[in-house]
Amino acid sequence: MRIEFHKHNISQQDIDNATEVMHSIFLTTGEQVSEFERKFSQYLGCRHAVGVTSCTAALHLSLLACGIGTSDEVITTPMTFIATANSIMHVGARPVFVDVEPKTGNINADLIEAAITPRTKAILPVHLYGQMCDMRKIRQIADKHGLAVIEDAAHAIEAMRDGVRPGELGDTACFSFYATKSITCGEGGAISTNNEEIAEKLERLRLHGMSKGAAERYAKKYEHWDMEMLGWKYNMDNIQAALLFSQLERIEQNWQRRENICRGYEEAFKDNKNVAYLTVLPNSKSARHMFTILVHPEKRDRVLWQLQEKGIGVAVNYRAIHLLTFYRQTFGYKRGSFPIAERMGDSTITIPLYPKLTDKEISYIVQAVNQVTSQCV
Ligand SMILES: Cc1ncc(COP(=O)(O)O)c(C=O)c1O
Repeated sequence: MRIEFHKHNISQQDIDNATEVMHSIFLTTGEQVSEFERKFSQYLGCRHAVGVTSCTAALHLSLLACGIGTSDEVITTPMTFIATANSIMHVGARPVFVDVEPKTGNINADLIEAAITPRTKAILPVHLYGQMCDMRKIRQIADKHGLAVIEDAAHAIEAMRDGVRPGELGDTACFSFYATKSITCGEGGAISTNNEEIAEKLERLRLHGMSKGAAERYAKKYEHWDMEMLGWKYNMDNIQAALLFSQLERIEQNWQRRENICRGYEEAFKDNKNVAYLTVLPNSKSARHMFTILVHPEKRDRVLWQLQEKGIGVAVNYRAIHLLTFYRQTFGYKRGSFPIAERMGDSTITIPLYPKLTDKEISYIVQAVNQVTSQCV
């Protein structure tokens, strides 16, 4: 059997929407982007959404819009994709890592205050695999110390914790529509915010700092534009937006299928002494972006390869990023700096999780994991 690591959920309706744009004259940022932004902010329950080309761009622009720059420090987690910390480097600031909670893999909010220095300007929590961080506690710490909060919600579109949604308590939240995300246009992203001033700044920053986008410049009588600040070229286009907005209509239905698959995995692995998995906290809705199993660090790669040999698409999300060459060499991090993230990074294996997985494929994966982990001793 061959089971792909991921299959997207783009439907004929989504393709028709994108095709319609391609038959029209206006391909870049315009009506469809505005429509997607309106629908996305409605779904999140926030005031503004700004469409960009990736979550990396969303993080970069959020840091700029919050005034983070050279020599500032931003507190974040080592248990994430490199985009999180790289975006901090992109504005000339320094990522300051804080270890994670063993139960969830999320930044341990109780350790944040000890990492705050006079240079700290922001906290950048990541809602790992879809389980939200303790945003109430993080907001409280940020307010006490006058810090911005930028949420990396790449995994967490559908999430909620203690009644709080991504972007509700953060100054901004950043989302990804990369190929493996729950809604996708291949590459894409968005920023949500309840702050009018930040939203306006983000709209400028995503397009070179220009005071008018193409839709505004050409819609009526030509209007001159000005450049008010230095921006980047990160604007989402109408083709991307058209692919996305009807996916939004099926987002909860697809989440429910992933939730059911995850519960099946948890049930199937609960008596396996060689496999652990992270916890979805009470009062939480995990977006269920990924399902990871944790095995003994010395066995991880063998289990990974044996699952691959059985035709199962697997991945490692993530090896703790402070141990990657660039971060080790730039900041002198060593093994032992953040032991919980390191252990998790050495133990983790991501198994397939998407609505198109069939019950037969799920049974095969469960059987393979239980068999391989009991043999690899
Ligand atoms: C936690 C996290 N943050 C940020 C990103 C970057 O997203 P993008 O590929 O849209 O730039 C990813 C990508 O998968 C991610 O997993």
